[in-house]
Amino acid sequence: MRVTFATAEYSPIATVGGLAAASAGLVDALRRSGIDVDVVLPDYTSRDKGIIETVELHVPLWAGPATAKKIKHRQAGEITLIDAPGLAKSHPYLQPDGNGWLDNTDRFMRFSAAVAAFVRHTSPDVVHLNDWHTATALADLDPTPPSVLSLHNLAHQGAAGREWLDLIGPKSDHYEWWDGINPLAGAIALADHVVAVSPHHATEIVEDGNGFGLDGALQAKGLALTGILNGIDTTVWNPEHDRCLPAAFSAADLNGKILNREHLVNELGLTDDDSLLAVAVTRLTDQKGIDLLLPLINLLDEIPLRLAVLGSGDRILSEQLAAAANDADRFTFVDGYDEDLSHRLIAAGDLFLMPSRFEPCGLTQMQAMRYGTIPIVTPVGGLVDTVVDLDTQPRVGRGFVMNDVSSTALISAVHRAVRKCRGKQLENIRTRIMSVDWSWDAPAKEFIKIYQQISR
Ligand code: ADP
Ligand code: GLC
Repeated sequence: MRVTFATAEYSPIATVGGLAAASAGLVDALRRSGIDVDVVLPDYTSRDKGIIETVELHVPLWAGPATAKKIKHRQAGEITLIDAPGLAKSHPYLQPDGNGWLDNTDRFMRFSAAVAAFVRHTSPDVVHLNDWHTATALADLDPTPPSVLSLHNLAHQGAAGREWLDLIGPKSDHYEWWDGINPLAGAIALADHVVAVSPHHATEIVEDGNGFGLDGALQAKGLALTGILNGIDTTVWNPEHDRCLPAAFSAADLNGKILNREHLVNELGLTDDDSLLAVAVTRLTDQKGIDLLLPLINLLDEIPLRLAVLGSGDRILSEQLAAAANDADRFTFVDGYDEDLSHRLIAAGDLFLMPSRFEPCGLTQMQAMRYGTIPIVTPVGGLVDTVVDLDTQPRVGRGFVMNDVSSTALISAVHRAVRKCRGKQLENIRTRIMSVDWSWDAPAKEFIKIYQQISR
């Protein structure tokens, strides 16, 4: 079976958030299962080396010229990069000042038009689209090929002006939205199957008022909308063989985890005592609820806890965190996107804080559990599917689920964690969460079933 998989991010070539890891993890597992996958990604860097095949794509005038350049990447394997006007930039979405590029609509509409042209050129069995950046491809494919749309983040829909209705292709009427177009709404209507990135999120987004304005469109999909939990790359996230860590460890031998904590406390200049270390690794956006940590930081002199946050994004939030870190010995903040440090933090932590307002799936809580770091999470999205509360279900619990999304609920969950996570009990919880299988093998099988159903 041949699948065209179009995405705006792909690890390690273009990484902003979980979309990159989720795309690469799924494709890798699909390829291992014998599916022939053409990955189509924007060429953000105008690459001119290592190209093994070039195809000029037949796109409408406004979208071109567009070229598909196939490369063989050392880690990612064969990838098709789309070169079209405006796609190459220093960051996939953001200007250096943190605002989006002014031409993001044009850029990803052109990318989507190129994806449609690539599909016409290669006639795959299935087209798999991801998020709004690829969504208008289906407007320009008539008849609609067997198609899957993965929804990684409904907060971004790519809504744009009315003028696009005349441009994006013969099926543009499905994209009409108030006084303009909505790429995601159109692709939801046209795709044979829509996949939310966790089962719980699939149930949340069809509740009235909870689908980011698309609840009606999502409800209309009926059984053609399902949730498949993301996996993580368990070879990259493996505490026994992680080149970023000063010491290796495993569920059977946790000594290395203590060494990682000592090393990190030293590296970040945190107070050296035997209190628990809580960590967070995150994009700084409203979604992640990191502002809810601020009242907790004020309490760190009264709770036996230290806190280290690595994050990048919203400037106001990063300034608030930096100011809080200036005043506190038990809290440190690193502003930036740093993969190596993220591994060291997650390995060193005792607790992992994730107070998300919404979370379609979330990969970091799984990365944390794989490294024996106990998650404290809000009761939303994929966090519900992955974290079972230790106080309500002590035998199978994996972390602490907050009662609601608030600082008060966070502080109360931290208190529960501090009471419970000690001595032998802490070790048992660590061993349990480290042995859960978070690999992409099972999710890939579910996708293959969907591909088979829709391409029959
Ligand atoms: P989202 O995609 O909403 O940001 P996920 O939890 O799905 O959230 O995925 C985030 C991914 O990005 C994880 O692999 C995480 O380790 C990584 N990540 C997030 N922020 C940072 C950061 N500041 N530095 C390094 N890695 C980060
Ligand atoms: C999005 C979501 C996150 C999810 C990731 C990968 O960025 O915010 O919850 O894990 O996509 O699907």
